[in-house]
Amino acid sequence: MFKSFHRAAWRRIAGRLVFAASVATATLGAGWVGKWQPLEKDGMHDPSNPGLQQLQQPVDALSNLPRSAVGNQVDWVTAMEHKLIDPRANLMPGTRINILDGDVIMPRTGEMPMVRFSHRVHTEWLDCDNCHEQPFDTKAGGTKGVNMWAILSGEYCGLCHGGVAFPLTECNRCHSVLREQPRAAGR
Ligand code: HEC
Ligand code: HEC
Ligand code: HEC
Repeated sequence: MFKSFHRAAWRRIAGRLVFAASVATATLGAGWVGKWQPLEKDGMHDPSNPGLQQLQQPVDALSNLPRSAVGNQVDWVTAMEHKLIDPRANLMPGTRINILDGDVIMPRTGEMPMVRFSHRVHTEWLDCDNCHEQPFDTKAGGTKGVNMWAILSGEYCGLCHGGVAFPLTECNRCHSVLREQPRAAGR
């Protein structure tokens, strides 16, 4: 798939990924191999705090949800679709919730398959204001400067992906729309 992908661009992106992977290891702790760290060992909770016993351990909370090989190891979209989780959408009963059904195909992906951005998946978790008019225009193709380098630098999709949403190493979850094969000349 990456055969004809421009070398220099790939090297830039690969450098970022190595960086991202080392940050992930630092955050998750060395030796993290497909298991959830107990809270007392995750480097974020104070193991001497007696209140720690009150908290649910990640392995208890997460191990029955649909698995993902990456990130926090849960496929959250499937978990929501199967109604295994039911996140609270609003704190105030009067808050209006807008779900928008409609995909935007983002085509400036060079040799990679195009990107399908699903409004339904995102508006089940997020409000329009989280993305419009910043960082995204409400016009397909209208946002200036979206590219993989910016995303890997934490802008646009990278504001959430790699942080609260699945990591950027999962190229094909975003780049999911194959282009039609160019027809041979004369056909
Ligand atoms: C997670 C981010 C995100 C959220 C939340 C979001 N959008 Fe979008 N929206 C996008 C992106 C990305 C595009 C495509 C922008 C581009 O191509 O430059 C877009 C495009 C649009 C478009 C233009 C579609 C077209 O075909 O021209 C409309 C209209 C829109 N959004 C409305 C909404 C509304 C209404 C909501 C809330 C119900 C919403 N969006 C929530 C990211 C989001
Ligand atoms: C969170 C979604 C997401 C993930 C994950 C993702 N991309 Fe992208 N990628 C995009 C978007 C959005 C664009 C810009 C599309 C546009 O503006 O039309 C893009 C553009 C690109 C481009 C076009 C050239 C450039 O530099 O922008 C390449 C090449 C690319 N991505 C490669 C990759 C590779 C390789 C991976 C995995 C290591 C990856 N992408 C992961 C969303 C993603
Ligand atoms: C404001 C935060 C935010 C932004 C910005 C954002 N996403 Fe997401 N995205 C999420 C969350 C939250 C989920 C659901 C949790 C998960 O899958 O990790 C999600 C899920 C997805 C999925 C999974 C869909 C599925 O069916 O499994 C794709 C693909 C995706 N995003 C692509 C994109 C692309 C492309 C962009 C940029 C154009 C983008 N996202 C921008 C937060 C965001």
